[in-house]
Amino acid sequence: MELQFSKRVTQEDFQGEFIDVILKAAADPSLTSFAGGLPNPQSFPVEAVKEAANKVFENFGYRALQYNAAEGLLPLREKICQRYKEQMDLDYTPDEIVITTGSQQALDIISGVMLDEGDEIVLENPTYLAALQVFHHYMPKALTVDLTDTGINTDQLAAVMEKHDPTLMYIIPNFQNPTGLTYTEETRVKMAEIMKGKNTLIIEDNPYGELRFAGKAGHSMAYFLPEQTILNGTFSKIVAPGMRVGWVATKNKELLEKFAVYKSSVDLHTSILDQMIINQYLEDNDVNAQVEVAKEIYKNNAELMMAAMEKYMPKGVTFTKPEGGMFLWVTLPEGLKAVDVQFKAVEKGVVVLAGDPFYEYDHGGRTMRVNYSNSTPEQIEQGVKAFAEAVIELM
Ligand SMILES: Cc1ncc(COP(=O)(O)O)c(C=O)c1O
Repeated sequence: MELQFSKRVTQEDFQGEFIDVILKAAADPSLTSFAGGLPNPQSFPVEAVKEAANKVFENFGYRALQYNAAEGLLPLREKICQRYKEQMDLDYTPDEIVITTGSQQALDIISGVMLDEGDEIVLENPTYLAALQVFHHYMPKALTVDLTDTGINTDQLAAVMEKHDPTLMYIIPNFQNPTGLTYTEETRVKMAEIMKGKNTLIIEDNPYGELRFAGKAGHSMAYFLPEQTILNGTFSKIVAPGMRVGWVATKNKELLEKFAVYKSSVDLHTSILDQMIINQYLEDNDVNAQVEVAKEIYKNNAELMMAAMEKYMPKGVTFTKPEGGMFLWVTLPEGLKAVDVQFKAVEKGVVVLAGDPFYEYDHGGRTMRVNYSNSTPEQIEQGVKAFAEAVIELM
C-alpha cells in the first residue's frame, strides 16, 4: 500500500529537521541547551493554578467538562480586553476576541481563512520558524523583508509593497523570535504609513510583549491600523504554555466571523477546562506580579549571557542586545558557517541553534539564535564558554 499524502506534508520540510535538533537536545540531560525557547518553569504559578483548578471543579462541576462556544469563555475574553487597555492602551470589546489553542493555532487558522496556494505573504527575514512551517502548509509565495537594529527595513518594505499586493504580512515587533530585536516607534509609524490603504492583513504576533525589562514600549499596528491588523496573544509566556490558551483580537468583524467559523471546524473550541482554570487564576491572583517573576529571571539571564559573550567570544562576533523576551541573535565572523559551529558546539556540550531555519530563503549563513530563559547562571557561563571555544576552533 502506498498512502497518498498531501503536498503539504510531502514538500521539503527544512524547518522540521532543525526542530528535531532542538527536541533531541532538550531530551539529553548531559547537554546545556540554548536551542529551545522554553519559559523558565520557576515562573510557573503551580500552586495557584492547582487552587484555581480545584475551585473550577467545585464551582462549575460538569460545566467545566462540557462542550462550549467556539469564541471562548466570555469572562476570560473580558479580562483580555481589560489587559489590552491597561498594557497597550488598546480598546477591544469581548466580541472582538476569539480564544485559540495557543497563538500557534491562530497562525494556522488565519492562514486557512486567508491563503490560497500562490498568494503572497510578507515575512520578516528572519522570522519564527514554526510560523514558517504553518505558512508552508498553505503554499504561499513569501516576500521577505530584512530586519535591522530598528526593526523591519522600511525602504525594502515600501519597495515590496509598490510591486506587490500581498494577502498577509506577519510581524513580531517586540523582542522578536529569533533575533530579540524590537521595532522603534519611528519604524512602527513608517510601517503604518506604508501599509495604510493596502489590502494586506497584518498579523502582529506578540507573545513576548509583556516580558520587557529595558526600554519603552512602542505602539502596536493595531493602534495605527485597527481594521487591518489581527493581534495574536497568548498566556504561554505570562502564565504557562502547557494549558495552550491564546487568542486573537481584531476590529475587523468580517475576519473575526470567518475566523470563528473556521476554528469551530478545526477543534470546535479550545479546552473549556483550561480556559476556566486560567480565568479563575486571573481572578484570584495578581498576574502582573507573576510576570515580574519571569521578567526578573530573564533580565538577569540576559545580562549574564551578554556579559559571558563579551568575556569569551573572539573579535568579530556580534550579538543583539534584547530589551525583553528570551533570545539574542549572534552573528559570526565572515567565513564561518553557523551550521558548522552548531555541530562543533554540541561536541563541547552546548546546543546553540544555527539561524538557517528562521530564513525562508537565505540558508547557509552565519547567524545563530541563543535562548537564555531556561538556563541556570552556571549553565549560561559554561555554555557560552563552550560555544566560544567552538567558534574559535573553526576560525
Ligand atoms: C513568535 C511566536 N509566536 C507564537 C508562538 C507560539 O506560542 P503559543 O504557546 O501561544 O502557541 C511562539 C512560541 O514560542 C513564538 O515564539
